[in-house]
Amino acid sequence: MDKLKINGGKKLTGQIHISGAKNAALPLICASLLTQERVTLTNMPALSDIRSMNLLLEQLGTKIESRDDVIDGNPCKIYSYQTPELSSLIAPYDYVRKMRASYYVLGPLLAREHYVELSLPGGCAIGARPMDIHLSSLEQMGADIEIKNGYVIARAPEGLKGAHLIFNIASVGATCNILMAATLAHGTTVIENAAREPEIGDLAEMLNAMGAKISGIGSPVLTIEGVEKLHGTVHKVISDRIEAGSYAVAAAITRGKIELLNALPSTLQTPLRILREMGVRITETPNSIVVDAEGCRLEGKDIMTDYYPGFPTDLQAQFLTLMLTAEGASMITETIFENRFMHVPELMRMGANINVHGHASAIVRSVKKLYGAQVMATDLRASFALVLAGLIAEGETIVNRVYHLDRGYEKLEEKLRGVGADIVRIKEPD
Ligand code: UD1
Repeated sequence: MDKLKINGGKKLTGQIHISGAKNAALPLICASLLTQERVTLTNMPALSDIRSMNLLLEQLGTKIESRDDVIDGNPCKIYSYQTPELSSLIAPYDYVRKMRASYYVLGPLLAREHYVELSLPGGCAIGARPMDIHLSSLEQMGADIEIKNGYVIARAPEGLKGAHLIFNIASVGATCNILMAATLAHGTTVIENAAREPEIGDLAEMLNAMGAKISGIGSPVLTIEGVEKLHGTVHKVISDRIEAGSYAVAAAITRGKIELLNALPSTLQTPLRILREMGVRITETPNSIVVDAEGCRLEGKDIMTDYYPGFPTDLQAQFLTLMLTAEGASMITETIFENRFMHVPELMRMGANINVHGHASAIVRSVKKLYGAQVMATDLRASFALVLAGLIAEGETIVNRVYHLDRGYEKLEEKLRGVGADIVRIKEPD
């Protein structure tokens, strides 16, 4: 149970290299299960969620090799995955409990082996998060689904069949799972109201490079013509837009200036527009962003989370924290998850002025100062919001439960120290 100790009040300036996206890497790893050949992923982040997914795949029979690599002068990982045959078709409770994204093995295993058992993920800190869209879509594709002893048991003895699917919610997880399943189905699958997040585009591009026939990439209608088999490939994981957005806020909240290298501004248009409207100077190149808030008086803005290309729920907690330093009042509305203001009570302990209305919205009012405190969050992005608060608070902030941050922010303290933050990890014995 490591902690982070932050002494606030430092203006952050310099460069931060943005890692490959965790939320792209997780389904890409599972897509390797669709072929017997080797799939190599470059620009992989070194994160605990990636290690958890690797352990699950090894348990299913995948041979994994890893080595260190350098992209544009920055260290990253290359992983190769090869599954000539499956040694198990079960994703057990202990893996799924640790990481919900384990459910990405469902589509590939059912498509390739016509059978899978997956422990049903429960709800989590941010909401109930059911899997009904994943399961009903697979049923429409001919699978027989049974829920028994906490497990989904899915069978498709004749293989999956193409279907015309209309999602009632543009779910990221369901779009990825069904996209993977449909590549090896008999016939054509159409997904209407598919999610359009860039990580889905990244998955579809890699599947096509493996021999899949997917069209409509980036649009809400994906058409997948099933093929007999897929082959291996080498793929570079897209840059992490949520990590980039989080460090953009770190620059803005400390009134500093940070150049985000290996960031894709095209995937961050709504958050960057909000920052500009607040008064932050933003300069874009195709693969970098300069966020300059030096000497700026920022103005509060209202934000409502939405499906891509709307404002990402995964940046809500960070922007809410930024609004504490902006003039006026800002209304933050969360529309994707039903319980995503868990960071607010912790921010209040640091002196924030926030009024939460029900589960959906919060009014954030500007405060002169935050004060350091012992805090902890219940999820990854909320934990980053507490780090941001610590960066501007007077005195010392201790952020507990750092394992949340280790799931999704590669080398967090190193990157922040590199731009001038006073932040250290306190190692605690297990
Ligand atoms: C993914 C991201 C997460 C991000 C979220 C929304 C990964 C590993 N995680 O999560 O970081 O916050 O997208 O951008 O990529 N829903 C249903 N039934 C379903 C599926 C979803 O009701 O079968 C609901 C969920 O409860 C939620 C909403 O749809 O309220 C969106 O969920 P979804 O897009 O599926 O998010 P995840 O894939 O879980």
